[in-house]
Amino acid sequence: MWIVESPLSYFQKFCINIVKAGRVPRHVAFIMDGNRRYATKSNMRKVEGHVKGFDKLSQTLQWCFELGIQEVTVYAFSIENFKRSKEEVDYLMELAKEKFRKLHDEKNKIMELGVCIRVIGNLDLLPEDTRKLIAEAVIMTKDNNKLFLNIAFAYTSRDELTTAVKNILKGVELGLINPDDINEKLISQCLYTNHSRDPDLLVRTSGEVRFSDFLLWQIWNTNVCFAEVLWPDFCLWHLLASVFQYQRCYADIQKYQPTQKIEQSTKVKKFLQYLDEKRSAQIEMYAKT
Ligand code: FPP
Ligand code: MG
Repeated sequence: MWIVESPLSYFQKFCINIVKAGRVPRHVAFIMDGNRRYATKSNMRKVEGHVKGFDKLSQTLQWCFELGIQEVTVYAFSIENFKRSKEEVDYLMELAKEKFRKLHDEKNKIMELGVCIRVIGNLDLLPEDTRKLIAEAVIMTKDNNKLFLNIAFAYTSRDELTTAVKNILKGVELGLINPDDINEKLISQCLYTNHSRDPDLLVRTSGEVRFSDFLLWQIWNTNVCFAEVLWPDFCLWHLLASVFQYQRCYADIQKYQPTQKIEQSTKVKKFLQYLDEKRSAQIEMYAKT
């Protein structure tokens, strides 16, 4: 199940409402780390930790929904993860296929909740069947707008930035934009996350204090919380504590928000539209193959 709808206790609801009285981050990103350590600790096969990891994601989405968080981005599969054993990579691809297939069975609920699923990453690196199911889910939910769930799959930030640089260079070569048009805003808009605001809060579990090539451009002013808990053990209290930390730091975060607006010419807007259409066409093609 993608979004759990288990009833929350009176106390949980009470605490959520207290946190909601303050400023709630609009976009929260998660590095869901610690699945295999959880499996080892629980005497399971290592790969089974990822199943527990997915269940935790579903539960976390419910909490985010209750809190009024509008956008969630999760690191589900890094390009670096291809270097893991074949058994584990195959298992993760199968898990993704199973979950994206189930998403169709849950269509009514997903549409009723208004969940828009976007996948960020280099989909060319994925097996055809996985890519097809992912593309179908993206197309099915593309007009929803209540909760945005961005799944980073076959993603690294450096790969994303490299792709953006190549696209910009192509734009200049084709005469669609001029070198003078290149600025921070254009780069942001050429990333896979072009439709998202930058995350307000990033949570990494498992006690590891690294970014692991996740959203490096986008987290320039994001509040970061390193939680000392393995992802499958993550609970509502960890989430509320992270949001509370964000609320305490909000004044400082706000200080560094850019005040200068960058205007873009019609030419640049057309180029961005061309890139967007190219990506949508690619998704349509993946769904058809
Ligand atoms: C990190 O823990 C987790 C991953 C590499 C995979 C995360 C994937 C899921 C939670 C499933 C998501 C699936 C979909 C379809 C969205 P780790 O393997 O690095 O564990 P460790 O740090 O204990 O070794
Ligand atoms: Mg890890």
